[in-house]
Amino acid sequence: MIDELNSKVIELIKTVNERTLSRMKEPFNVATKTNYNDLVTSVDKENEQYIDDHLRQLDPGCRILSEEGFGTKDISDLRGHLWIVDPIDGTLNFVKQHDHFGIMLALYVDGQPTLGYIMDCTNRRLYHGGPGRGVYVNGQKITAPENLGLRAGLVAISSPLILENVHHLPAVAQAASGLRMYGSAAMEMTGILTGELVGYVSYLRPWDLAAGRVMAEELGLVVKSIDGSKPDVLSSNLVLVATRQVSQDVQKITG
Ligand code: IPD
Ligand code: CA
Ligand code: CA
Repeated sequence: MIDELNSKVIELIKTVNERTLSRMKEPFNVATKTNYNDLVTSVDKENEQYIDDHLRQLDPGCRILSEEGFGTKDISDLRGHLWIVDPIDGTLNFVKQHDHFGIMLALYVDGQPTLGYIMDCTNRRLYHGGPGRGVYVNGQKITAPENLGLRAGLVAISSPLILENVHHLPAVAQAASGLRMYGSAAMEMTGILTGELVGYVSYLRPWDLAAGRVMAEELGLVVKSIDGSKPDVLSSNLVLVATRQVSQDVQKITG
């Protein structure tokens, strides 16, 4: 049953991506949410409504935690099939760059990470996978990234954490071979999955983390809150996703 669902969700996310790429060529509405750099567009909302409607048909009885309000109201536990949906991740990039944004879906079953999907939209590159299944990029299985340390690789740290010197993260950036900021958790997660990045630190909401977490854990990467605890699926967390070595290196700096 999960295999059949998986195949259908792969088709769903590809369809949503093609809709997104053609909608991007036409004018769309942009509004602010909590502040001037927290944006939502009509495409985010259209995507979410389309995804949520189709998930309800494909997986009757499921519940959906999604960013823009079309999901199930008041989810406070992890029982059953829970889909976690980010209809466009990197909306600021979508608006300003028409590039470097993603669509993310994840299925958790009774709290267990089960399936994860990240679409790198403009490159039409779909990352998907789950525990015991492996992780695939456009159908090609990828191997786990090498267990490199901080000095040997690039890290992504979200800009507010550097600007506000949270948890000594500028020192983490200095200890790495370089710092990158992509402005999209989806893009940063795919960087970790392929080994282009050795670590990623950001304050992430449930839909920013859910899909990448499923695949990162399958590849043996560490996914933890910066204080070392296990990130809560339904809460926002300051999260580190990294190789095992980088996880240790970062801990020495952040304490
Ligand atoms: C945002 C992006 C950004 C991250 C923010 C997220 P959105 O997602 O992933 O990289 O730093 O925390 O909210 O709002 O574009 O879906
Ligand atoms: Ca997001
Ligand atoms: Ca979003």
